[in-house]
Amino acid sequence: MDFQLSEEHLMIQQAARDFAKNELLPGVIERDEKQEFPAEQIKKMGELGFMGMMVDPKYNGGGMDSISYVLAMEEISKVDASASVCMSVNNSLYCWGVETFGTEEQKEKYLKPAATGEKLGAFLLSEPEAGSDATSQRTTAEDKGDHYVLNGIKNWITNGNSASFYIVIAQTDIEKKHRGINAFIVEKETAGVEVGAKENKMGIRGSDTHSISFQDVKVPKENRIGEDGFGFKFAMKILSGGRIGIAAQALGIASGAYELALKYSKERKAFGTEISNHQAIQFKLADMATTIEAARLLCLKAARLKDAGEDYTQAAAMAKMYASDHAQWITNEAVQIHGGYGYVKEFHVERLMRDAKITQIYEGTSEIQRIVIARGILK
Ligand code: CAA
Repeated sequence: MDFQLSEEHLMIQQAARDFAKNELLPGVIERDEKQEFPAEQIKKMGELGFMGMMVDPKYNGGGMDSISYVLAMEEISKVDASASVCMSVNNSLYCWGVETFGTEEQKEKYLKPAATGEKLGAFLLSEPEAGSDATSQRTTAEDKGDHYVLNGIKNWITNGNSASFYIVIAQTDIEKKHRGINAFIVEKETAGVEVGAKENKMGIRGSDTHSISFQDVKVPKENRIGEDGFGFKFAMKILSGGRIGIAAQALGIASGAYELALKYSKERKAFGTEISNHQAIQFKLADMATTIEAARLLCLKAARLKDAGEDYTQAAAMAKMYASDHAQWITNEAVQIHGGYGYVKEFHVERLMRDAKITQIYEGTSEIQRIVIARGILK
């Protein structure tokens, strides 16, 4: 494995870092407080190529590799995890799914506008009773010949209101269990689609999380993705890639908190000297820096495997589990280093600590990642 980033990788990393500092940092505290979706900022991210980074340029994408995506996700997440989850879902759940498994017609209609960020995509799998247990889909898609009729409700949908296009996972034949599940591209403006109230969340409060209900929603057959019954495998494949994005998000949240704590420790004085001169703080910084480096290497390894066309399921689960579990502890330590200042909003670390929690929950909990890893080891 080559540990050296290319010139191009470094340029993309720098562009994302500059964007985060100049465009996301101003207003991030207010957006968190008001639960305000960063619509303007997402539009600019699209213009800079961050919303369809890995999509082929012939479909308006950036044609970049997954390593570039990890680097950009880390930088954006250091500052604004609400913006980065929108970016992650659009890139790796929506665009990647449509580009890899969609028809040419689907790509023309539903990928091209999403790859530029002009329109956003969302991924609708979770339900009130089907979160970790993804095979227990209750949303139904009844086959009516030239179209399907969808009924049901989806929960915790990132980009739920801001997206124009939904990938919806639904059960067509309950007898066939996961082999009776299909995936569809549904336009948000279709009759019978209803967006529920925005969730009032602990963290990533600027992100747009809603439940979406479907009542007798007519979806043309040509909007089904892949062969009949491919929906569950499709969702699993998408989630493996998505987990690289969320691992990079957790890494970014942790490294953002660490960088703030490091800076603060060199400025804040106690007992006659900067607190970074105290071994109690040095040990924390050393542990945080080492853990972040390990998480970064796991993320880059999973991305490299994906770029090489190799199986990355286990590597992605390892990266997500490690980065998200450790983001809890690292952000907590960053608050601790800041003392009382860490507990107030102006210093950013309390927000990063709240934001970190979701990375252990969405796109498969830490427990699900352990199941995926153990299955890989034992098979
Ligand atoms: N790639 C391809 N195929 C896969 C796969 C993968 N990564 N994982 C499983 N499959 C296939 C299996 O091979 C099997 O196929 P066959 O029947 O042909 O053998 C089929 O899928 C069923 O697999 P399992 O028997 O392993 O299924 P399971 O019911 O035991 O579940 C699980 C496995 C890993 C627990 C899965 O249910 C899972 O990942 N759950 C978590 C779901 C999740 O991540 N939800 C998050 C919601 S999305 C979100 O958060 C988005 C957002 O808005 C941010």
